Formats: sequence, structure tokens, C-alpha cells
Amino acid sequence: VTGSLPRFGWGIIGTGDMAATMACVLAAHPQAELVAVASRSQARAIAFAASHAIANAYAALEPFLANPDMQICYIATPPDQHHAHCLQALAAGKHVLCEKPLATTACDAGAIAAAADAASRFCMEALWTHFLPAVTETERLLAAGAIGTPSHIAASFGLPTEPAALPACGAILDRGCYPISLALRLFGTPDRAEAMVTRSVAGSAAAADIMLHFPAGRTAALGCSLVDYRANTMVISGSAGRLTLHEPITHPTLLTLASARAGPVGRSGAKTRVARLLPALALLARHRRTRILRFRGNGYVHQVDEVHACIADGRTQSGVVPLALSIATLLAVDGFEAPTRGS
Ligand SMILES: NC(=O)c1ccc[n+]([C@@H]2O[C@H](COP(=O)([O-])OP(=O)(O)OC[C@H]3O[C@@H](n4cnc5c(N)ncnc54)[C@H](OP(=O)(O)O)[C@@H]3O)[C@@H](O)[C@H]2O)c1
Repeated sequence: VTGSLPRFGWGIIGTGDMAATMACVLAAHPQAELVAVASRSQARAIAFAASHAIANAYAALEPFLANPDMQICYIATPPDQHHAHCLQALAAGKHVLCEKPLATTACDAGAIAAAADAASRFCMEALWTHFLPAVTETERLLAAGAIGTPSHIAASFGLPTEPAALPACGAILDRGCYPISLALRLFGTPDRAEAMVTRSVAGSAAAADIMLHFPAGRTAALGCSLVDYRANTMVISGSAGRLTLHEPITHPTLLTLASARAGPVGRSGAKTRVARLLPALALLARHRRTRILRFRGNGYVHQVDEVHACIADGRTQSGVVPLALSIATLLAVDGFEAPTRGS
């Protein structure tokens, strides 16, 4: 029964891949109505509107943002456009869901946060992974002490990418934002960051291995890549065990809790067949605690639910992905994309 739930009018800036993905998610959502799309081209706006049954197609942002039926603007443009598009949408009084990364620098992300604050409008980076059940459960288990005191995170997101499909920004901003924002959500703001960056011919980051140092000696080793196939997992190690969010890190469904008390694996010197089997059985015992935590649809619906719930409650930020998390994520790696730092 959805009759009593509030409904929200959405508009999308951009007509590319994510715009199309989210248009389908919004079309299927009982609380959402996709009312407008904006493109730089009238023909693309009309074609996109026709494919997604959107009533209004615009080739300019001003009339699009003046549409009174749109409360929420989803920004699905390249990262270097996010700052300008967020500011324009907020100035027009719209709530904003902006694709990752929120901006290309922490300074620009801070300006977006200030504009959202001044306009008293909701604004969130579309870090959809953070709303998936496996991630929520990871946070719950850590808070419940399931692995003792967590001290280290190892995570990566890297996939070899065809030249034609390369993102507009480098690996750190395009891919790194997932493991980095997850690490910061769990461990807070780092004191220090170091990076080993592999450059593309054009000078942007093709791959990077980033080390973050947090208070109380906690660390995170985070990888991202546009050129090789990384583990795409997140492993959180603690004094009593280890949690693994299995591949794919962007939308995991498998979560393994391994206890350090299961005993060491691979003891040498075992003479009998049974003794030799023991390490394997110990390993199985650890992995017995793997659970499947499914997400709904293709996973993006969970962040849409968060946007609706926050706006319905009169909140201008998400408690799960606040703008401070987006800013801190960018601050941790500010300048690593540029060839002057960390190369
Ligand atoms: N959450 C996820 O799973 C996920 C996955 C992939 C990408 N993303 C993010 O989503 C955003 C869009 O990525 P995408 O893969 O959808 O890119 P895309 O296919 O290239 O689409 C971007 C769209 O932005 C519009 N645009 C406006 N100003 C532009 C400009 N100056 N240059 C180029 N395009 C411009 C274009 O539409 P018009 O030509 O009609 O104006 C274009 O189709 C990025 O921030 C990316 O990081 C998120």
C-alpha cells in the first residue's frame, strides 16, 4: 500500500549511461515520478524523454530547473560538471542527488555543501554502495564487536577498461571513491595519506595504491585501477577476526565473518591423513559463516529510498553518506590525480 507515502518529482541532467540506469530505477519506484530531463542537445533530450516516458525534455538548464513539478535533481554528468550543476540546481531550490565523485576537489565539494546549507536543500553524493544490506550489516557487526577492535582495511576496485569506455577522470576519482569512502565511513577521517600512482600517457591516474593512516594506529590499504582486474573486495581485520565483503565491492551480496579463534590454518608437520585435513576443516569452519545479503533490483533503489526518507523527514543530509564524508574522501586524495603529488 503506497497511497499514503509522499511522492517526489525527479529530473535528470544528462542522457548517458547512468542517466538511463537511474531513469529505469525511478520509473519502477512507487514514490518517484520522473518529470524532466536536460541535455546539451534538444534531439538527445527528446530521444531520452521518449524512451523513458518523461513528459518534459529540455536543451537548457534554466527552464529545466524552473519546472515546478521537479523537487529532486539527479545529476548524471561527468565529474568536472558536478560542481556547476549542483550549484545551479540548489540555487533553483531543488534537492540534489549527484553522481560520484561529488566534485573533482575537496574545495569544490565544500562549496556544494555550503550552497546546500544556504539553500536548506537536501544534497547527497550517489554513493549507492553504502545503502546496500551487506554494507549496512558490516557496519552493524563491527559495532557489535564481531571482530574485536578493527584495525586494518584492505579494499580495492579495479577493472581493465577499454580505451573507448575510459571515464572522464582518473582511477582515483572514478574508482577509488568506493573503497576510500567505505574506509572513511568505518574508520573516520585519516590523519595522513600516501599514494603510489601509475600514470596513463595523458598523465591521469591509471591505477593507484593508497595508504591511509587513521588515529589510534588504524590503517587502510586501498587500490583502484582502470587497467587491471583487482580483488574488488573489502577485508576488515580486527583483534578477534576478519570481515570480508566479497566481489564486487560496488554491490556486494556475500559477507564472511572469520573468527581468529578458529585456529591457525596450514600447520605443518602433520603426519596422518586426518591431521592433514584439519587445516582445511578449520578454513571451512571460518567460511561457514558466509551469508548472502541481497539487495533489491539492481541495487540503486536503496539510495533512492534514502533520498526520499531524508526529504520526507525534512533532513538536508543523509546520516549514512553525509556531505562531510564526500568532502573527507576527496580531501584524503586531493592532488593524487594530478601528476605533481604521489607520482
Ligand atoms: N553509480 C554508479 O554505479 C556509476 C556508474 C558509472 C558512472 N557513474 C558516474 O555517473 C556520472 C556519469 O557517468 P556516465 O557513465 O553516465 O557518463 P556518460 O555516459 O558519458 O554520460 C554523461 C552525460 O552527461 C551529459 N553531459 C553534460 N555535460 C557534459 C560535458 N561537458 N561532457 C560530457 N557529457 C556531458 C551528457 O549528456 P548530453 O550529451 O545529453 O548533455 C552525457 O551523456 C559520472 O559522474 C560517473 O562517475 C556512476
